[in-house]
Amino acid sequence: MAHHARAKAHTNIALSKYWGKRDNELILPMNGSLSLTLDAFHTTTEVRFIEERGSDTVLLNEQPLDDSATAKVSRFLDRVRALKGVDWRAEVHSHNQVPTGAGLASSSSAFAALAGAASRALGLELDERALSILARKGSGSASRSIFGGFALWQAGEDDLSSYAYPLQSPLYDDIAMLVVVINAAHKPVTSREGMRRTVDTSPYYSAWVKDAEQRLGEMKHAVTHGDFTRMGELAEMSAMRMHASMLAAEPPFCYWESGSLQVMQIVRELRAQGCQCYFTMDAGPNVKIITRNSELAVLKRALAATVDEQALLTARPGPGLLVENC
Ligand code: PMV
Repeated sequence: MAHHARAKAHTNIALSKYWGKRDNELILPMNGSLSLTLDAFHTTTEVRFIEERGSDTVLLNEQPLDDSATAKVSRFLDRVRALKGVDWRAEVHSHNQVPTGAGLASSSSAFAALAGAASRALGLELDERALSILARKGSGSASRSIFGGFALWQAGEDDLSSYAYPLQSPLYDDIAMLVVVINAAHKPVTSREGMRRTVDTSPYYSAWVKDAEQRLGEMKHAVTHGDFTRMGELAEMSAMRMHASMLAAEPPFCYWESGSLQVMQIVRELRAQGCQCYFTMDAGPNVKIITRNSELAVLKRALAATVDEQALLTARPGPGLLVENC
């Protein structure tokens, strides 16, 4: 029997952000979040279990991961092995179509794909909710990449109630995201460390949690009712408030670079001229512009003076997790 499977997952970008954990082991979030899965960036992962004990090997884009990243994958695989009651070692081959660590949420597609491939390789029949719960324990945002299009990750109360589910939206065929790569290098503060520091030290953190939960309800309403303007306003607000909470941490930190600020300003100016566009940012300097298909040409022309053409990546809603046996 071959314990071998492959999965493909797409990254998602949160419109209403998740920032801060209530439980670091289980990755239970302080607040719920809502995202859009994108077609342009994905991870494909193959997992093969070998019926013997030993250490796991993990290759990302054909290169072995360093010890600490391998240990993180192994800890995640331990959870899958425990579900099946085996202690077999695994060989993992992963390919990322995402600039790793650039704040483009590569961990969302990575752990969603790993959850899908590893569970199938062991013959576990997990439904989407169970996959979302499993992926969450690798990286919170991965819970949302099980689904295509819009997904809402409810904070929940415990392991079994903290999962994502898909949302239907009239915006699906119209929404586009323009990713502006400001710097594709690894981020200096990981999202894990950034969240921990903000939760532990930022006096603004409790205000963030309270507001994020309230706004999430509004965002859900805007998305499901096709209110593009409100969705965009709320998305920009969520990003600004999340970043504000980090600025007040001790020591403070900031993912923005001067190029990020320049792009934010261009978005504001274009909006004042009637272009429907809003920005969002995650744990990195890149800016994601949320817009409509019909506005893409105007946006690209306006950004051409400031940003290289290769630094502009266009994305639309992408599909959910795909899993197959090998
Ligand atoms: O799931 P993580 O650890 O990659 O954290 C993601 C955090 C943000 O991207 C900043 C926000 C979000 O909701 O995706």
